[in-house]
Amino acid sequence: MLFTYFIIFILSFLKCTTCVLSSSSIERCKVSDETCILKVANDVLHGSYEGNADIALPSIDPLISKVMRVVQDSGPVVIEATMTNFEIHGFSKGKFKKFRGFDKNVLEIELKAPSGVFKGPYKLNGKILIIPVTGEGTTDTKFIDLNMKMTLPLTNTTRNGKTYYKIVNPKMTFDLPGGDIYLSHLSSFANTFINWSFGIVVSALKGPVSIPMVQLFAEKINAVFDKVPYEELFLES
Ligand SMILES: *[C@@H]1O[C@H](CO)[C@@H](O)[C@H](O)[C@H]1NC(C)=O
Ligand SMILES: *[C@@H]1O[C@H](CO)[C@@H](O)[C@H](O)[C@H]1NC(C)=O
Repeated sequence: MLFTYFIIFILSFLKCTTCVLSSSSIERCKVSDETCILKVANDVLHGSYEGNADIALPSIDPLISKVMRVVQDSGPVVIEATMTNFEIHGFSKGKFKKFRGFDKNVLEIELKAPSGVFKGPYKLNGKILIIPVTGEGTTDTKFIDLNMKMTLPLTNTTRNGKTYYKIVNPKMTFDLPGGDIYLSHLSSFANTFINWSFGIVVSALKGPVSIPMVQLFAEKINAVFDKVPYEELFLES
């Protein structure tokens, strides 16, 4: 009996040792194998969206932002917005259409999400068309068919003989044909009016929103790059 416990103890120890040593549960690809990289990226999006400690990946659904600021000082929407502990839900039901460029030191990522929700507290200052929106509240804004294209330039540094990537100066554009904006501190008339003007609001805020959005994505990917060196991310070519 004691011996059995001993064996179980040793086995569980071995199991844990290998799970640490094998550094991650994520499949590896050759750096030039775009098909394999795209498949693994989608496996991570669908399987590890709540985060994956093996590769230091934070949650991507919900994608959480501690502080997000959006500023637009001219045009039909003049706004200064601060969102804290902001959550974006829905990416795990989406799909990477493109995830490539490791071998060219510029990542090109295209991510489509059929639907999702932005939620969390906000502080606003400004005007959306004719509606003054200054105030505080929480939002629960639905989006439909979000399509994002990111360009993420990579630099690398060497630590202890290993190479670590880092994204610097990320850029993004996106299309968002539909959604339903909701700001809790406004009247239902104001919300309906803003909702009718969805296309105008989106095109006015596209540029300013894409800056903190792509920084948020880069921050999550950089957490992985900072932990897992190039030599462990990829198979030798
Ligand atoms: C690291 O950066 C250098 C200089 O930009 C580049 O030539 C090299 O390919 C990069 N290494 C990796 C593993 O991407
Ligand atoms: C906002 O617009 C969407 C789609 O155009 C619609 O489904 C939704 O009911 C609208 N919501 C409000 C509060 O008007």
